[in-house]
Amino acid sequence: MTSDWRLVDEGWGRRAVDFATLSEPSNCREYVAVHHRLGVGAGDRLLDVACGSGLAVELAQLRGAACAGLDASPRLVTVARDRCPDADLRVGDMHALPWADGAFDVVTSFRGIWGTTPAALAEVRRVLVPGGRLGLTVWGHIKASAGAWALAPFRMAAAAQVSNQGVMVSLGRPGAGEELLAAYGFVDVQRIEVPFVWEFADPELYARTLASTGPAYEAIQNVGEVAFLTAATALARDRLRAGLPLRAPINVVGYLARTPLLGSEPT
Ligand SMILES: C[S@@+](CC[C@H](N)C(=O)[O-])C[C@H]1O[C@@H](n2cnc3c(N)ncnc32)[C@H](O)[C@@H]1O
Repeated sequence: MTSDWRLVDEGWGRRAVDFATLSEPSNCREYVAVHHRLGVGAGDRLLDVACGSGLAVELAQLRGAACAGLDASPRLVTVARDRCPDADLRVGDMHALPWADGAFDVVTSFRGIWGTTPAALAEVRRVLVPGGRLGLTVWGHIKASAGAWALAPFRMAAAAQVSNQGVMVSLGRPGAGEELLAAYGFVDVQRIEVPFVWEFADPELYARTLASTGPAYEAIQNVGEVAFLTAATALARDRLRAGLPLRAPINVVGYLARTPLLGSEPT
């Protein structure tokens, strides 16, 4: 993730339609599981931080929540607004949320807050009401995941960027998220298992899907698009199974937490 949020759209927004239609739908298990665990429903004012092209917002609206979302990529937010015309969707930086203190009952972020962006949690806490609920997901133990192969092409990025990707996923390590959330004043922190499976119809579609993501952009800048697509397609060919989709289950960690109630708990 770049330190200048205005450059994020170069990587995440350049294939916004592919990302919205090919990549984001595979994350639906994660969205449904976290919304369910948070008890999202009618009467909740919900903010999704780093909302991408808005599928999680759309699903939270279906549960009855009044939704807002923020993402640094204008092109992804354009898709999100098309999907969710009734939601308050804004382009911006998660480190400066453009909403008032206590504006939300629930905040979610699906692989949007990283080891490299912990200070965003101060903003999340500010916009939550006392007793407000938080649901975050982060990549877990990728190497131990049966679907680790599907993320391997990201390592075609330059060495410095691969090393940054490692720091970004550090929040999934045992104890890391718990410690960080407690440091930002969240209570009742729970680590949960989150179902997460990418599925693809064929190797070419897998490669095209992967190419629509931000980390793939870093790899493509390093080796070129043709080399990236060729390597990713070859990798997926080895995983083909007759009569079944390409399937990549990936370990994703969820954290549930809440803000303290006014006057009743130390902050
Ligand atoms: C891994 S994607 C997750 C997107 C979406 N939550 C999903 O489930 O597909 C990370 C998202 O973070 C957004 N992002 C990166 N830096 C940001 C920042 N500083 N502020 C807000 N959004 C940011 C990117 O544009 C991208 O949509």
